[in-house]
Amino acid sequence: MANVEKYFELVDQSQQQFIETLREVVAIPSVSGDASKRNEVIRMGNWLQARWEALGAVCKRVEPGKQNLDGTELDLPPVILGQYGNDPTKKTVLVYGHYDVQPALLSDGWETDPFTLVEKPDGRLVGRGSTDDKGPVLGWLLCAETHKQAGLELPVNLKFCFEGMEESGSEGLDQVIVDEADKWFRGTDVVCISDNYWLGTNKPCLTHGLRGVSYFHLQVEGPGADLHSGVFGGTVHEPMVDLVHLLAKLVDNKGRIQVPGIYDQVMPVTEEEERTYEGLEFSHAALAKDLKNDVIIHKEERDTLKHRWRFPTLSIHGVEGAFHSSGDKTVIPARVRGKFSLRTVPNMEPAKVSELVTKYLNDEFAKLNSKNTMRVIETHGGRWWYSSPNHPNFVAGAAATEKVYGVKPDLTREGGSIPVTLTFEEALGVNVLLLPMGAADDGAHSINEKLDKRNFIQGIKLLGCYLYEVAQTDLATA
Ligand code: BES
Ligand code: MN
Ligand code: MN
Repeated sequence: MANVEKYFELVDQSQQQFIETLREVVAIPSVSGDASKRNEVIRMGNWLQARWEALGAVCKRVEPGKQNLDGTELDLPPVILGQYGNDPTKKTVLVYGHYDVQPALLSDGWETDPFTLVEKPDGRLVGRGSTDDKGPVLGWLLCAETHKQAGLELPVNLKFCFEGMEESGSEGLDQVIVDEADKWFRGTDVVCISDNYWLGTNKPCLTHGLRGVSYFHLQVEGPGADLHSGVFGGTVHEPMVDLVHLLAKLVDNKGRIQVPGIYDQVMPVTEEEERTYEGLEFSHAALAKDLKNDVIIHKEERDTLKHRWRFPTLSIHGVEGAFHSSGDKTVIPARVRGKFSLRTVPNMEPAKVSELVTKYLNDEFAKLNSKNTMRVIETHGGRWWYSSPNHPNFVAGAAATEKVYGVKPDLTREGGSIPVTLTFEEALGVNVLLLPMGAADDGAHSINEKLDKRNFIQGIKLLGCYLYEVAQTDLATA
């Protein structure tokens, strides 16, 4: 029996054990955005490092330094770099993933405790981080462990880079990658990232594009302290009123961004691109089901995909400093901060986006003739990534998908962002493949996040099988 077949067989026999391992890591609440959970993020990094080292991998732990989160100095969680296998006759594949997760509280509406993995009768493995990104990160580890257990060598040398700050803007990571490009990452032939999702729930895909993100805070302040609305309402410039006016100017309710010039740098849709939307596993009916309500703006499926993948969008996320609890409070907040972000696409330049947004908001604020002060602050950004799906790395991903799932994968782009993708491509000068494990309805960042058992188990096979395919691919034909 071929090695890959033996591997598949052992994966099938180990299913329950794999689920137990997922349970173990979901139980570590490694929320990078919550200062009080920083020890848990570090604990999760330690767990990964220990497990890889037990297997015989050589790890290097990079501590990127300190972070200031809401006034507290915090240690940034470690970036775990690793090397497993060092055979000069084999190719070297670098894999990336993140071991931090989004926040989650039972009171957000979860059916069960978010950090206790629940195996549902329908096959859902429910828990925070199951699909984003602990399942896939475990996938690489379990693949290597299973090979060892079967007495098989991996067909390639594996390098890895696991970080604990992805959900909080990957602070510190770009520098680590640039610094290590000619050191730890030297000799990397291709990169593979498993941190996105299928377009639907049945057909696997390979992904060759991501949008960028530019995040802004819009602060308006006036009086030196909160005021009584009965005494001061209608007689002072209210920061919240100014802010609401400005936020309402950013985007219309059909999703069209109102910032002048913002669409000028957007690549036009070609006829060739038009054809790529045909035959994808994507329907508004399924999307409406995922949304739990049909709130879809566009009529045609392809327009929904275009606005997810290749047009910029602007979303309003929240207001800091505003009254937000239940009950009625007759207050005039003295200082408020609106939060919004743009998802950016080829060929938008982040600096230009920032300039246009700032100028527009300043102009609109001037029209209000307010005595308050307004400030636009860009807090973080990440660039879009777009790559050709014809590279041999993608051919290997497609071949592996066909072997494991029996179908040709869809070729997709994503609306979400993994800014480090472009950093790897540029700093290492190699091709990057996005090879997702989870499905469209997994609910990353949402309540009741899940990974289907089928996707977890077949996904572990897929990641392994991909390594066999890369090993046999002639990368020189790129
Ligand atoms: N896994 C996601 C990226 C993603 C999201 C891929 C949606 C495909 C679809 C990642 O963990 C994530 O949440 N990224 C952030 C990045 C941001 C903090 C810079 C995002 O997209 O908001
Ligand atoms: Mn992720
Ligand atoms: Mn995420």
